[in-house]
Amino acid sequence: MIGVVYVNGRIGSADDAAVPVFDHGFLYGEGVYETLRTYARQPFLFDAHMARLRRSAEMIALPVPMTDAALREAVDQTAAACSSDELYVRILLTRGVGDLSYNLKATPAPTLVIIVKPLTPFPERTYTEGIRVSMVGIRRNHPHALNPLIKSNNLLNNALAMQEAYRQGADEALMQNQAGFIVECSQSNFFVVKNGELLTPPLSAGLLPGITRQFVLDLAAAEGITATSAPLTPASALAADEAFITSTTREITPVTTIDETPIGGGTPGPVTRRLLEAFRSNT
Ligand SMILES: Cc1ncc(COP(=O)(O)O)c(C=O)c1O
Repeated sequence: MIGVVYVNGRIGSADDAAVPVFDHGFLYGEGVYETLRTYARQPFLFDAHMARLRRSAEMIALPVPMTDAALREAVDQTAAACSSDELYVRILLTRGVGDLSYNLKATPAPTLVIIVKPLTPFPERTYTEGIRVSMVGIRRNHPHALNPLIKSNNLLNNALAMQEAYRQGADEALMQNQAGFIVECSQSNFFVVKNGELLTPPLSAGLLPGITRQFVLDLAAAEGITATSAPLTPASALAADEAFITSTTREITPVTTIDETPIGGGTPGPVTRRLLEAFRSNT
């Protein structure tokens, strides 16, 4: 394994990093995380990621044991041990080590892990030609079951959706909520363009509030592009003029095919290209 890992204050090589099997992150998937990337070796939108980490942690009653400044210090120290132009950074906070019990008293100290690896960018053709997504059968967790607002280490819903997409030879899994509305992808948020206007499903539909999603909504406002958060049906997605996904690692990636249906003639559209250009000049 390539990379450098911080585990509760100790920084070492990825191969040596370990967390005890009685960690409730391992036993129960109880934990939250953030994925960041660097531009010019500086973590992008660090404060927004930390705010979301705290919101996720609060939703599972997990105390964050450090200030943002201390977390940044830990990230910087870990990153300093990884020599690469750009970095992938994953911060994980779990319930910590304790006996086999859901009682919070069993786990007095959370576990903090920071994984830093060289960033492997997606091929440039994914931006110039776009990608294919598959509308999968696996539905996004219902917010009353496991709220997608929580960026949780418990990723089985996402992993099963992505397995289905892989079986279809697609690059991402486009998911619906229990009511059959499009919500998001397994690892990214979803946007369409219709008649020059942006539309993305609302948080109330049950999806992760992507940091890139919000950044793109702000960029659109600055560019004078009208953007709305509103329910999106599969039929409207298939009939869109353009579509794209957003995430920390994929930035803005055009979606040019949904299953067998080409979107907007099967090439990245003008609004998507304009937003990508604006995105890149703001990183
Ligand atoms: C389910 C899901 N939705 C959306 C995103 C995109 O979020 P962000 O833009 O904060 O990377 C992710 C990122 O991993 C995700 O896992």
